[in-house]
Amino acid sequence: MNVSPAVMAPEVGSQGCSHRMSHHLSAYKVADPMHLRQALGRFATGVTVVTTRSPSGKLEGLTANSFSSVSLDPPLVLWSLQKRAPSLESFKNSGAFAVNVLGAHQHDYCKHFATPAPDKFQNIPYEIGYGGCPILEDCIARFECSTHSVVEGGDHLIFIGRVENVVYSDGEPLIFSAGSFCVPTRFQKPDNANDIQTAGQNATMQRECCS
Ligand SMILES: Cc1cc2nc3c(=O)[nH]c(=O)nc-3n(C[C@H](O)[C@H](O)[C@H](O)COP(=O)(O)O)c2cc1C
Repeated sequence: MNVSPAVMAPEVGSQGCSHRMSHHLSAYKVADPMHLRQALGRFATGVTVVTTRSPSGKLEGLTANSFSSVSLDPPLVLWSLQKRAPSLESFKNSGAFAVNVLGAHQHDYCKHFATPAPDKFQNIPYEIGYGGCPILEDCIARFECSTHSVVEGGDHLIFIGRVENVVYSDGEPLIFSAGSFCVPTRFQKPDNANDIQTAGQNATMQRECCS
């Protein structure tokens, strides 16, 4: 294989790569989970705590950054759950979940909800929302969903939810990037900044119903 001296390519996957790569990029074997994880970490995400209530009444919640929008009409969102998660059966059987989008001020929740525990809601302020799911106070957005479908995705299950209620407020989002938590730095406003609408101008939670 011909690799230009300018291209740093320690290992190249069996598929190879026909694109000319920038000298800043390194290619690695896709099968190496460590490198795959490192590369995925370059895609910065928000951070959520996804919650549910099992049919027997157990409250579950876990830190998840796999959340994504799917469709506006009908209103669908998704997130994925590793199959070995202790909360898997609860999410599979509950029929509902809530996606709580964390603000920068809530970074303590990340570790808390990413650590397995018999009752993660002890000493955490919450209310009960759609489908009996616990909803966290002070989040910058929340999507309360009925479970629309559950799709196989390798070592994860992909949960697609129909949004039944949505709330959001102004506030700085928490960002997860390359294994670290960050807060956003905004670009300088352009001259025509006044033409650009900012969503959620006031600090009060706005509640909207999708159905
Ligand atoms: C920033 C961050 C994002 C995460 N995203 C996910 C995710 O999208 N899906 C997942 O299954 N686990 C994710 N995890 C790991 C879970 O939060 C962790 O395994 C949790 O303990 C699972 O909850 P459970 O033990 O109550 O089942 C993430 C952890 C962190 C710190």
